[in-house]
Amino acid sequence: MEIRRHVILGTGGTIAGRASRPGDGVGYVAGQVSVEDLLASIPSMAGLPLEVEQVAQVDSKDMGFALWQQLATRLAFHLSRPEVDAVVITHGTDTIEETAFFLQTVLRPAKPVVFTCAMRPATALVPDGPQNLVDALAVASHPGAQGVVLVCAGKIHSAADVSKVHTYRVDAFDSGDAGPLGCVEEGRVRLFRPWPLASETGGLDPVVLQRIQSVQAMPPVVVLTSHADADGTLVRALLSGCDVAQGPAVRGIVVAGTGNGTVHHALEAALLEAQAMGVRVVRTSRCVHGPLLTHPGQLLADARSLTPVKARIALALELLED
Ligand code: SIN
Repeated sequence: MEIRRHVILGTGGTIAGRASRPGDGVGYVAGQVSVEDLLASIPSMAGLPLEVEQVAQVDSKDMGFALWQQLATRLAFHLSRPEVDAVVITHGTDTIEETAFFLQTVLRPAKPVVFTCAMRPATALVPDGPQNLVDALAVASHPGAQGVVLVCAGKIHSAADVSKVHTYRVDAFDSGDAGPLGCVEEGRVRLFRPWPLASETGGLDPVVLQRIQSVQAMPPVVVLTSHADADGTLVRALLSGCDVAQGPAVRGIVVAGTGNGTVHHALEAALLEAQAMGVRVVRTSRCVHGPLLTHPGQLLADARSLTPVKARIALALELLED
């Protein structure tokens, strides 16, 4: 396997987790081991032309727009360097699909940006992080690789399709109906479908860089769920915090509907009130798989095949442009 110059950005997560009792797979603290030490623990990494940078050291449940702005800024910097061929990012599994989706949506990079992670901490009896890192580097080195992808448990997933679907298993990710982009076997990449689309400028034009800077002021968008006995209490509470001069406290609401994006009539009534007040409302589905199939007469827009958390990011980015 030929390895070219890569940058590895560390952000924390279980891959960098440490337990006080060796072998404890759940009672550990995420984001403890530096990305430099993680690489040093993998013999095959010795002597490779790798540059490392610890951008953050967090449990990814605490991820937010401020950190995304920081990560996107460092990523854009490294991608703009001609001598850098690819960037690998280590990240916690809990929100990795959101960070990956955010970066693909904002940057659409022409170089590969490969996220990787682990379900077991670095102190586990058999940690999965080292193999995932080795696989991520194989993907980053693959000729023609581009866009933001996630490598875990031998599978390559696109940022657009991937979701975490298991709380504990090492193979915790799924790309739904689209399936994985490919797999990594003994350092070799086997592709099933094309890489994610890159923008013409490879994600590095001034407009994109300007957009990254505005991310800290992302418009507030919340996710609500429709379920049996759902009502409009939460929506009306959000609207009642509304300052007449400034408008509602939220700018957008994503509703995770039932089935094909249907919403309990009591919740829907409140969402229509919110929409009439200028709040952007978007329907998604609680279902794990499948897009929303639209039909005439629907009063609330839908986010097609985006999951609720990804629809939230897409809507916040759209509102940023308004
Ligand atoms: C995290 O998301 O940072 C903790 C959980 C994990 O990485 O598996």
